[in-house]
Amino acid sequence: MAKSKSVWLCQRCAFEAPAFENPCRNCNEWNALVETVKERPRASTRARATYSTGAGGPARPQALALAGADRAPRIPLGVPEFDRVLGGGAVPGSLLLLGGEPGIGKSTLLLQAAAGIAATGGQVLYASGEESTAQIADRAARLGLMDGSAADGVELLTENEVGAIGEALLASHPTLLIVDSIQTATLAGLEGPTGSVGQVRGAADWLAGIARATNCAVILVGHVTKDGSIAGPKTLEHLVDAVVMLDGDRHGTLRTLRAAKNRFGSTDELGLLEMGERGLTSIEDPGRAFLDEREARAPGAVVAPLLEGSRPMLVEVQALVAGAAFGAPRRTGRGLDAARIALLAAVLGRRAGIAVGDRDIYANLVGGIVLDEPALDLPLALALASSQRDRPISRETVAVGEVGLIGELRPVAGLGRRLREAARHGFTRAIVPTPRRGVAPEPAPDGLKVIAVATLREAICEALDAG
Ligand code: TYD
Ligand code: MG
Repeated sequence: MAKSKSVWLCQRCAFEAPAFENPCRNCNEWNALVETVKERPRASTRARATYSTGAGGPARPQALALAGADRAPRIPLGVPEFDRVLGGGAVPGSLLLLGGEPGIGKSTLLLQAAAGIAATGGQVLYASGEESTAQIADRAARLGLMDGSAADGVELLTENEVGAIGEALLASHPTLLIVDSIQTATLAGLEGPTGSVGQVRGAADWLAGIARATNCAVILVGHVTKDGSIAGPKTLEHLVDAVVMLDGDRHGTLRTLRAAKNRFGSTDELGLLEMGERGLTSIEDPGRAFLDEREARAPGAVVAPLLEGSRPMLVEVQALVAGAAFGAPRRTGRGLDAARIALLAAVLGRRAGIAVGDRDIYANLVGGIVLDEPALDLPLALALASSQRDRPISRETVAVGEVGLIGELRPVAGLGRRLREAARHGFTRAIVPTPRRGVAPEPAPDGLKVIAVATLREAICEALDAG
């Protein structure tokens, strides 16, 4: 067996020092180094060796034409929005990290995914170091999973040590292994406290090995700490094949799923879910979920036809420009980036004659969604202009486009899909950027009048005059 070797690991930046030092020479954090003994535990070595490919001879190359021929298809998780974000489901043999704040719904989502796999005849091993089997069973009962196929297809294990989890995995050959959470997972033979970077990384690395060796898909839960990093300074991101974040306002019901990394698919797709009495429900067609449905036309609002991944969706942007304050004016955005609001306020003042520079600005997206598409520029600028001028924009109007620093409008991708979605929901006017020279304008869907403009100033005239 290999001799154990001790290193000092920084808990902030994962820098490896041969001896204790203070502060960390890489990130200058004080008291951040924790001793970690590098050695593989026996049980783990055995579990891995059992499934290592072949007899351990030299690696043999394979013809490109043959590569991937034996690749297993994806495993749909049965939660449509989760599958959308992953690109069709989990990949056998891969390691996925599901991150999110405590209490946001990670365990709920994964128990539903486990039930989804069981419903198609698969087996799931759910290893929890956070909750007792009774607590998980309570949640399953609340989700209505106790009578279905999940009752037999999902096995629970309360265990922290990944070697022991590996033994259980080798005994039952599940389709999917869930480890909830990686912060409570430990690797026998590694010293260092539970939840330290050394343990978290050691356990994740070991699980990546067994995932590959057994071709089992593995999902790790990672709690996001206050500063936004997953499981000890992002050290897991390069170790796993995909990172998916579950976000949302804990007091609201909307939850979003986004891939921060996806080795097997795109990172563009946005998953929409709603937390209810019986767990998370996929919102497959957002329809009018992000529109304010009141009849009255108040100044400061306009609807944006956005494109999140492959899905078009309508989102209402609202803004309030309020009386000049003392000191520095405030720029507050809910669901919107404050820097973007500040930039558009400056462009409005200098290029469109709408002086909002010294006033307080509040802006938000309806429904509590958080988005950052450049195509939101124009609707946000129009909402600000509408509030400042105190003139409403017609409720039948949508607007979309990127705004440049000189007040010019730039075309956005997928305009046709956005316009068709607007028409489907009964909108009759769309204010859009003029297409690039040599590009044919997008044909207008039935019932929708498309108004192409070149500058922010023209767009404001079109939006406010018709109001
Ligand atoms: P949980 O999945 O335990 O969060 P995490 O694993 O990310 O820490 O979800 C916790 C919250 O979700 C809790 O406040 C209760 C709520 N919840 C519902 O609203 N409905 C449900 O059906 C379930 C199971 C949980
Ligand atoms: Mg949990």
